[in-house]
Amino acid sequence: MTNSNTQINIDVRAGNGARAKADAAANIGVQEKTDAHAGRSTNTGIDHLYCPRCGAGYAYDSIVQLCRCGSPLLVKYDLKKVGESLKKFDLTARAPDLWRYKELLPVEYEDNIVSLGEGFTPVLPLRKLGAATDIDELYIKDEGIIPTGTFKARGAAVGVSKAKELGVRTLIMPTNGNAGAAWAIYGARAGLNVKIVMPKDAPAITRNECAAANAGLYLVDGLISDCGKIVARSVSVHGWYDASTLKEPYRIEGKKTMGLEIAEQFGWELPDVILYPTGGGVGLIGIYKALRELRELGWIGKRLPRLVAVQAEGCAPIVKAFEEGRTESVFWENSHTLAFGINVPKALGDFLVLEAIRETEGCAVAASDDEILAALSELAAGEGIFVCPEGAALYAAVKKLRSKGWLGKRDRIVMLNTGAGIKYPDTLNFSPPYLDLDQTL
Ligand SMILES: Cc1ncc(COP(=O)(O)O)c(C=O)c1O
Ligand SMILES: [Zn+2]
Repeated sequence: MTNSNTQINIDVRAGNGARAKADAAANIGVQEKTDAHAGRSTNTGIDHLYCPRCGAGYAYDSIVQLCRCGSPLLVKYDLKKVGESLKKFDLTARAPDLWRYKELLPVEYEDNIVSLGEGFTPVLPLRKLGAATDIDELYIKDEGIIPTGTFKARGAAVGVSKAKELGVRTLIMPTNGNAGAAWAIYGARAGLNVKIVMPKDAPAITRNECAAANAGLYLVDGLISDCGKIVARSVSVHGWYDASTLKEPYRIEGKKTMGLEIAEQFGWELPDVILYPTGGGVGLIGIYKALRELRELGWIGKRLPRLVAVQAEGCAPIVKAFEEGRTESVFWENSHTLAFGINVPKALGDFLVLEAIRETEGCAVAASDDEILAALSELAAGEGIFVCPEGAALYAAVKKLRSKGWLGKRDRIVMLNTGAGIKYPDTLNFSPPYLDLDQTL
């Protein structure tokens, strides 16, 4: 296996893309491919990879991780081609999973798709909590029912499928728990070797999922940023595929499908506001990317929803950068929050998150752990939806933004609950009364 950091810079913008792609594929000479060029085409519109910071272009059919300038890479689609072959109406006949958008996803051959039926999660109206906050249309899109219990399944399904297509044998990633669990599970289905490095304080259930899937699991007495350093060193020694957040361009494509689904589920009439619990920010960047692609396809109108990044008060680098008018965040020292998935002191894609918020006239807001716990109980008791703490932070944020007047009564608002409350069995601690065996209530 060769070094997975190998990068080939090609100028696809100059019109020599096809030739350069062929050269790149030949030169890079990475892992032997499995069944990459066999079977039925997905008809994907994937065209090339590009750097959102310096504009460099890269071929997509070999392993590329970051741009040589250090920025994450994004996938560019030939949307003219997609628009010619796919109409909104075609989607109605397709299965209710994220692969219904296969033309807007990076996998080229159907045989390489690794799926557990992920996607098309429900958008539920919250009538009681809407009334309590004086909002006419408050919704939650609930990712709690997706395989592995969190939206990380989307990134894993598409990321693992593309890794398989690229001939990857061994991948490694740092995680706050949920992503590692999802990649371990999807990796097992794909037959890949998966190595996971997570903080020792990550939710215990995610450890068990990794172990059950027979992933190589390693614990660190530190934060996800410390795990990331260990992964980076290991990748440079062993040449494994680095599946760290935004160090491969395909996880974001899976998360993008949340934005595609919101558009389709609202009948291509977008809501006014989408709130998202932001750690690495991949979901938010993905939703923004999805909406711009749909706009370019002409499937939605010009105006995009205001995107809101919600963080925890104990780890709010994006909120701070937003309030200070910065384009990048600063490492958040001694971060802590019970909403473990958003305990990310510095995100590689912070500049993309901040751009998405500003371009859509959104904002960034933080909630305290107490506010998160209160919101979690209100959602469960008021609406019968048991969300993860990250998702609960959104309702805490809605209350704050509504009382400030930033959210209006007539705004159509979607909270993106990223996972199931049952993945966090220790977050709530109740002591119900014991009954004697002969007692009657
Ligand atoms: C439940 C949950 N919500 C939100 C996030 C943050 O995700 P993102 O990296 O897209 O900001 C995570 C990440 O671990 C998570 O596990
Ligand atoms: Zn670059």
